[in-house]
Parts: sequence; C-alpha cells; structure tokens
Amino acid sequence: MNVGVLVSGNGTNLQALLDAEARGELAPARIACVVSNRPGVPALARAARAGKPHAVVDHRTFGERTAFEQQLLAELAAHQVDAVVLAGFMRVLTATFVDAFVARIINTHPSLLPAFPGVDAPAQAVAYGVRVTGVTVHFVDTSLDGGPIIAQIAVPVAAGDDAAALHARIQREEHALLPRVVQRLAAGCYSCEGRRVVERAE
Ligand code: GAR
Repeated sequence: MNVGVLVSGNGTNLQALLDAEARGELAPARIACVVSNRPGVPALARAARAGKPHAVVDHRTFGERTAFEQQLLAELAAHQVDAVVLAGFMRVLTATFVDAFVARIINTHPSLLPAFPGVDAPAQAVAYGVRVTGVTVHFVDTSLDGGPIIAQIAVPVAAGDDAAALHARIQREEHALLPRVVQRLAAGCYSCEGRRVVERAE
C-alpha cells in the first residue's frame, strides 16, 4: 500500500513513520511521498533526508479550497498513493479530497477525541484542567477531527504542565501509535461499521 503523508510543520510524526519504515515495521505500507501545504517547514527536510519524494501545495496560492485539494490529489496520484496519513496537517479537507480515499485516510490528533478538537489541543486540555488527555488516531471525514476512532492512548496531565510539556508527553505515545496503525491499516485490519471501527487480527 502506497501511503502519502500530508504535513504542515515540524514533522515529528512523519519522522516516526520514516523511522518505522527504515526498521521494516511499516510493511505492507510504504511511504510513497510527502506533501506540505506550507513551504520551508522542517517536515520537508525530514522527507528529503529520507530520500522521499516531497512537494509543496501552498493553500494560500489557491483561490478556492477545491482547487487546492485537486492539486493535492494530483500530487498523490503522481505517486500512485492508495492511502493518506494526515500527520500534523492543519487544514480541514472537504469531500473533494476525502471521497477519493474512503476508509483510506487517517489523522492523528493530540487529545482523546471528541474532547479538544481543532488547533492547540494540549493547550485546550491544560486550560480546561483535565487530569487525563491523550492521542487519537481516526479515520478522516469532512468534520473537524470527528471521523470514526481507530485507536486511543490516555496520557496523564501532570501538575504544573504547560501546553508544551503536555504535548511532548502526548507525542511520545503518538510517535509509537501512528506507525502501528498505519501498518495495520495497510494490512487490512480495520473496517467501519457506521461510526464503530472493527479491528481484526492480521
Ligand atoms: C501532532 O501532535 C498532531 O497530533 C497535531 O499536530 C502535531 C504535529 O506535530 N495535529 C493536530 O492537532 C490536528 N488537529 P508534528 O508536525 O511534529 O508531527
């Protein structure tokens, strides 16, 4: 399964995927290309270092969301991408994009969804005062961080945590979880029954 990874920033989740692939832990998934909606971000340098094809589709240069998403689709099609991973990709996608990858597009989010969707989830968790938050990997639909949940890991909030400290603790779990889910997605382990994701052994 050829996987396209969409990024917007630092790319530590992309790095976790690249490292898992290098260790032989991602197969039958293979990272085919990386696309960023922002130029010059560290995620692109990570892709380059790993020798992966990478491209920028800058959302600011498109008048309409549809045109932006069609260019994203074209980049992925050029690399025969079968499945998409949103790894810190900070744009909401419409049906133009999502319908091209039904049950083949996942996102990672640094909270226990449906709590704290959108941007700055660790800061939202600190501000709310929750004692437990975590990471969620879920199928993507056109809602904001709202698609069927595949996997979650709880992470405690420590007294005195600020958003950065909490996010770092969440990311340690996220960097282990996301490659596992990508491998299992490629192995055909997940199917959706309505909102519920059914998981079977390989
Ligand atoms: C990750 O923690 C990811 O869960 C989050 O952005 C971070 C990107 O880090 N995504 C969202 O908040 C999506 N709503 P990275 O660029 O280092 O992988």
